[in-house]
Amino acid sequence: MYNVAIVGATGNVGRKFLEILQQRDFPVKNLYLFASKRSAGKTLSFKGKDYLIEETCEANIKDKKIDYALFSAGGDASKEFAPIFAQYGAVVIDNSSAWRMDPDVPLVVPEVNPEDIKLHTKKGIIANPNCSTIQAMPIMKALNDKYGIKRIVYSTYQAVSGAGMQGIKDLEDGIKGAQPKKFPYPIAGNVLPHIDVFLEDGYTKEEEKMIKETRKILHEPDLRVTATTARVPVLNSHSESINVELNSKFEIEDIFELLRNTEGVTVYDDTKELKYPTALEVSGKDDVYVGRIRRDFSVDNGVNLWVVGDNIRKGAALNAIQIAEKMIAQDK
Ligand code: A2P
Repeated sequence: MYNVAIVGATGNVGRKFLEILQQRDFPVKNLYLFASKRSAGKTLSFKGKDYLIEETCEANIKDKKIDYALFSAGGDASKEFAPIFAQYGAVVIDNSSAWRMDPDVPLVVPEVNPEDIKLHTKKGIIANPNCSTIQAMPIMKALNDKYGIKRIVYSTYQAVSGAGMQGIKDLEDGIKGAQPKKFPYPIAGNVLPHIDVFLEDGYTKEEEKMIKETRKILHEPDLRVTATTARVPVLNSHSESINVELNSKFEIEDIFELLRNTEGVTVYDDTKELKYPTALEVSGKDDVYVGRIRRDFSVDNGVNLWVVGDNIRKGAALNAIQIAEKMIAQDK
């Protein structure tokens, strides 16, 4: 049994951590909930019992002998507090982008690169990839291993839950006519080709994350990848159109077969029956769903895919918990 801390327990992903730990019957000995000072003294319930939320600070961390600290409290809190949890012996599994590109921090999707977990000994931190990257990875890994990937083009349609509590509120209130607080323009009835901040080169940080994280997770530092990420008025689950050029010839039936046999992936594709994954249908599911699998006739060896994943489950909380489960299994 393990002592588990959740940092950012009151947030969207924090609450999902609690739900999934419970659902999967994770071996929790003691549970500790942390958030900002604002939430200190409030409670959240886990397995029918109320747990006090504490302010995240060294005094509240040091004597708890925490084994796993699941973080989803934003980049600044991760930068400040992840090293402190690690210093007191915890393995931090962090959802923010603060540590992802640190060469001494593994970036892990457990079905894809479990071998990287062992690098955690360097800093005591493991990074959970960006939600839109995670859901593409099991599929890209399978294609890369079998055919070799020449180039990836990602176009995303991302849910507001990825922007936290205030993102959801902007959509809900916006439907009733209120002005947005989180997004620069109304999200209700709109599509914003803008997630995270803009960079000098014209890309957004979200797009850069997809590009760089894909290369790191697949161990392909020179892979050609590009991305356009958009926020859409959907509550939960990200959808992605992914165009992939492969290095070798393929039969489309073989790609169906390959993905049917890929861990963490459900092929949901029968256009005659109007079967294709949608955000509403995939919300609450653990697997990533793929459909609309078809040849791209405009290039040699191209394939188009429509990939949908629950960004708060597999894209965040579930992936982090699966990393901890994998570590526990590797220990045994
Ligand atoms: P709080 O509710 O006390 O503000 P979301 O991304 O869904 O909005 O959630 C963000 C989470 O991160 C919340 O639990 C929030 O706590 C927490 N948080 C924000 N800033 C800090 C901080 N400086 N230290 C610890 N937790 C923080």
